[in-house]
Amino acid sequence: MSQVPNSHDNDHEGPIKTPKQLAVAVGLAFIVPIIIIILLVEFVASSGTGSSGSDALSEQATAQRIRPVGSVEVKMVSANAGPRSGEEVFKAQCAACHESGAMGAPKLGDAAGWGPRIGTGLAALIQSALKGKNAMPPQAGGEFSDLEVSRAVAYLANAGGAKFTEPAAPAAAASEAAPPASDVK
Ligand code: HEC
Repeated sequence: MSQVPNSHDNDHEGPIKTPKQLAVAVGLAFIVPIIIIILLVEFVASSGTGSSGSDALSEQATAQRIRPVGSVEVKMVSANAGPRSGEEVFKAQCAACHESGAMGAPKLGDAAGWGPRIGTGLAALIQSALKGKNAMPPQAGGEFSDLEVSRAVAYLANAGGAKFTEPAAPAAAASEAAPPASDVK
């Protein structure tokens, strides 16, 4: 009679059939997770201190983390280094539209296109450039100061027939801003 329930038990137990196998299974169930945990701890620890073998990499990483702060400082210094002339700003920022006439921009030197605009006065034109006008974004979307944009406006309008004086630069930059074209001997 006792044979019947025994055979039933064996059917349900699957691969573990002897007490020895049971002991091995229990032992593995205990040891395997511990081994995995040890490996995980070692992996995490080594990824934290692993850079000790590659100092250059960690220095690079540090430099990269520091760089954005440095570049902001450099930018501020260069912004203080003196405004660029109207022509420089024009070439860097305005030529994209005003040389080709893209988006309906009045072209450099196009007296017909500039005539009516010049009539509104330099101040009004500067306002258009600083605040934007239709397809032209404010400040022409650029990184130039108000003074630099204003000088570019004067340069652009003068090329179109106006006789505006470029807004004065602070004393130090004034001589540097004078176009050196006549210096060629
Ligand atoms: C993305 C193209 C684009 C760029 C870049 C651009 N402009 Fe313009 N600009 C235009 C367009 C288009 C108009 C005509 C706007 C209108 O009257 O509808 C215009 C018009 C002007 C006018 C006449 C405004 C008026 O009141 O009639 C001035 C002055 C001017 N631009 C100056 C500049 C200066 C200075 C720069 C560079 C700092 C510049 N633009 C860069 C597209 C551009």
